[in-house]
Amino acid sequence: MAAEIVEEDLGTVATGVAGSTLTVNNVGKSYNIAKTPKSPPEPTPVLQPVSITAPPGELVTIVGPSGCGKSTLFGIVAGLEEPTQGTVEIDGQDVTGTTGHVGYMLQKDMLLPWRSILDNVIIGLEVRGVKRSDAVAAARPLLQEYGLGDYEQARPAQLSGGMRQRAALLRTLLFNRPIMLLDEPFGALDAQTRLQMQLWLLEVQESFQKSIVFVTHDIDEAVLLSDRIYVMRGRPGYVAREIHVDLPKPRDTQITTTPEFTAYKDEVRSLLMDKGE
Ligand SMILES: Nc1ncnc2c1ncn2[C@@H]1O[C@H](COP(=O)(O)OP(=O)(O)OP(=O)(O)O)[C@@H](O)[C@H]1O
Ligand SMILES: [Mg+2]
Repeated sequence: MAAEIVEEDLGTVATGVAGSTLTVNNVGKSYNIAKTPKSPPEPTPVLQPVSITAPPGELVTIVGPSGCGKSTLFGIVAGLEEPTQGTVEIDGQDVTGTTGHVGYMLQKDMLLPWRSILDNVIIGLEVRGVKRSDAVAAARPLLQEYGLGDYEQARPAQLSGGMRQRAALLRTLLFNRPIMLLDEPFGALDAQTRLQMQLWLLEVQESFQKSIVFVTHDIDEAVLLSDRIYVMRGRPGYVAREIHVDLPKPRDTQITTTPEFTAYKDEVRSLLMDKGE
């Protein structure tokens, strides 16, 4: 990779880089799955054609039941899986089936246990050929700012769940793509830590203006964080509704007691409870 591109990229880690528009057009996926141990594998849809848009600087949430295809959709957007149909575009450019365009935080935090926190968060830069000293210089201020400054030499096992999640998120942020995919990043946390992490993510979003696509099962979390919510249903999944969350920003927990907040929650909940296909 050309050094000047990397340098330019690193500059934007500190200053924030505006998001891009992610467009998922009618993306569907089938896997070859054998219905019984003896039957031959046959194409089985796991995701019906879905279309989603994440404009610059928006936080877009996907909520839906287990198995409706949310992680499959992320795998396709990240270019790790080919869709059976449809296309993925970033700022109008077709990137279907190609990697490196998005920062992707997997459903598990996937920190490498033998590496220090510092070496974990710079891994994306390392993979992209950035000099270690430059990568460290970009990472240190973020570790400081987000409460991990004293832990840069610690191993992941020495950190609390919330700290590990922050480290995994910083690693995704440092990969420094305008679009970030976060697959249930706070799923394993207790309620109090989760709330802190949600407020932290809102801060990160405010400073970095990325386009963030976020998977969650938690309806409160979806409404608190989102500019728009895609509610998915069914197996194979489909988008039942796109909801624009028109609540004031910056948001804090006080908003959760307002009638407007409750109305959004009720709308999402009733879509998820409604079994009608
Ligand atoms: N590589 C694969 N081969 C075959 N089937 C798969 C593969 N990956 C996922 N599936 C199937 O696709 C469906 C959707 O899985 P996916 O992991 O996308 O769901 P999800 O919405 O992310 O669920 P959860 O909320 O539990 O994480 C499931 O039925 C799963 O078994
Ligand atoms: Mg999943």
